[in-house]
Amino acid sequence: TKLLLIDVDCGVDDAQAIMMALASPGVEILGITCCYGNTLLENVCKNVLRVLQVCNRLEIPVYQGASASLLGGPVEGALYHGKDGLGDVPDPNAPGLDHLQKEHAVIAMLRIVNEKPGQISLVATGPLTNLALAVKLDPTFPKKLKNMFIMGGNVESRGNITVCGEFNFATDPEAAFVVLNEFTCPTYIATWEFTCRNSLSWEFYHKWVNQDTKKAKFMAKIFAHSIKFTESECKSTDNILWTSGFMSCDSYAMAAALDESFITKAIEVAVSVELNGSLTRGMMVMDITGLLKKKNKVFVIDKCDLEKFKGLLIAALK
Ligand code: BDR
Ligand code: CA
Repeated sequence: TKLLLIDVDCGVDDAQAIMMALASPGVEILGITCCYGNTLLENVCKNVLRVLQVCNRLEIPVYQGASASLLGGPVEGALYHGKDGLGDVPDPNAPGLDHLQKEHAVIAMLRIVNEKPGQISLVATGPLTNLALAVKLDPTFPKKLKNMFIMGGNVESRGNITVCGEFNFATDPEAAFVVLNEFTCPTYIATWEFTCRNSLSWEFYHKWVNQDTKKAKFMAKIFAHSIKFTESECKSTDNILWTSGFMSCDSYAMAAALDESFITKAIEVAVSVELNGSLTRGMMVMDITGLLKKKNKVFVIDKCDLEKFKGLLIAALK
């Protein structure tokens, strides 16, 4: 059995990633930890519970984590996900927040990893605030993980939230810095550019959400806002960012965690995060020439098997 801990800021693509994991045979989700990001922390928690409810998996423990970045900057909820993070579709039957565990997400992460050292894969699809807090509380935390899969960072000067910053890293650059510099477990990163390069066709998207299931109907509903937003961005700007098809960033990191053969090429390299650049704060820096002399390297995912990816997505809504 694959053991997973999932840290999310539950917007629409986080929801997809969670559903992908839920549908994978031989996977046990030990907990889902919540972080502010695409929306306020409270909405993130509610969104995770909604996803679990649709999948009849409300028994999975959900923990409330950080409500702001380490330096406490304002939360820039991504317009793409809608104000509530899941496309602003009213859900009168949403589970109450009393379903949440009482333990703080960061404390829960440390406890769970101590119970099963060396066995757990951590998948992180939001700002890295909870992870940074965890390693500061217990510096041995990363060593006790089997491996880690992150969606975040950009390596070209192509940002999606600031000129050069990808949302998850640029929302809490200090946290991303701490994680990339202090986590020593094998780490795989699905960057913004990688996910853009591998976006799927809209034809696939329609086939995917038109499966006749409760989960597919839920996905189509929560995704409607993002599609409208993408279309209007395409019309109003000439921004290549929004013309590349159906994006599901977080699911790429999840796919890598679920199926080793999803990654067909990765670049092993030391990385860090720019903290001071007036235009580049939050950007991930790859030390291709090895000048930083860092021991711990990560795997920046470069190529993947898209057929496998589509298979995992389809299965997620069955
Ligand atoms: C990342 O930012 C969020 O909006 C998405 O959920 C994804 O984790 C992409 O930059
Ligand atoms: Ca996310």
